Amino acid sequence: MKKNKQKNYDSEIRSVSFDEPENQEYSDDTDFENRIVAPEYNPEDAETDNPLRPRTLESYIGQDTVKQNLSVYISAALARHESLDHCLLYGPPGLGKTTLAGIIAHEMGVGLRITSGPAIERPSDLAAILSSLNPGDVLFIDEIHRLTRTVEEILYPAMEDFAIDIMMGKGQGAMSYHLPLPKFTLVGATTRAGQLSAPLRDRFGVVLRLELYTTEQLADIVERSAGILGISIDREGALELASRSRGTPRIANRLLRRVRDFAQVVGNGVITCDIARMALDRQEIDELGLDKIDRLLLSGIIRFYGGGPVGLETIAAAIGEEAVTIEDVYEPYLMQIGFLARTPRGRCVTRAAYLHLGMTPPEAPSVPEQQSLFDQ
Ligand code: ADE
Repeated sequence: MKKNKQKNYDSEIRSVSFDEPENQEYSDDTDFENRIVAPEYNPEDAETDNPLRPRTLESYIGQDTVKQNLSVYISAALARHESLDHCLLYGPPGLGKTTLAGIIAHEMGVGLRITSGPAIERPSDLAAILSSLNPGDVLFIDEIHRLTRTVEEILYPAMEDFAIDIMMGKGQGAMSYHLPLPKFTLVGATTRAGQLSAPLRDRFGVVLRLELYTTEQLADIVERSAGILGISIDREGALELASRSRGTPRIANRLLRRVRDFAQVVGNGVITCDIARMALDRQEIDELGLDKIDRLLLSGIIRFYGGGPVGLETIAAAIGEEAVTIEDVYEPYLMQIGFLARTPRGRCVTRAAYLHLGMTPPEAPSVPEQQSLFDQ
């Protein structure tokens, strides 16, 4: 069953103010809460997260288009002595949205306040945060798609006019106060841009989409992280880790920590390609970063249902996972790499998945010929 776990924003970025979300959900079912290849934040990540976060655009690897555009907007805002326009960052989890918010604040030379949609329960929570900002500060709201409608409505005038109207008191004695705010930059982050209301989306002057990283970029990140943590790794070792990290720095850094122990105990302390391969094979993470359950899901559809189409509930019962877990945790990446297709008649395994599992795909047309993102 799902249980709530708090993302400890304090341990993510120090020397900034933060709010503790009270009921934030992460990938946290007992079966998959310690799943190494989950892109969502895991409290274990806190151990190394801070020192590994790049502080400047220059030290941030990848997301070249985002970086180039941000650099122009930041330079222009600095030259005009203005605060940066509100920015919306969207894309899959684990790609560095919080890190980018920190970089924006650092490059603009202002403070950073971190909170999240679920942590702001009432309009008064938001009013308290907004009125405590210093001029120019960056307010980062993670999971901004989870703000309630009433909170969102306070945010509109705050973003547009840098003022809010708040009600004090109750019943007949209630009074509305107009509260001017310092100019600030809202950086909103979401994994689900489609769930954002149109009025909120329209109030962001800058909208930036983060993409999965290439293997080369992830290897660069792994090498940088290893340098900071004092871990020895060669290029082949970094590439092997990177290729199993599902395009996601958070996973790459997590794998680096796990593989380091193998290098120390089994090797001579250096993470080579062989050590990385052996360590990740032992943890049942394959060449594309799929874990045991990913493969069970695909092979289950193939073995029991001829590769599909099969309904979500049916496959969930067959492999003993909850439908919602399959949908939210396992399917997104399998669909991203073109191994699974959602069709109106149910889930289908693609030819690429058969081949990856070493199985022979049946004759077309029942098997979708979907191209993997990694083939492009
Ligand atoms: N660590 C995590 N993400 C990173 C990135 N994009 N660049 C450098 N180091 C990182």
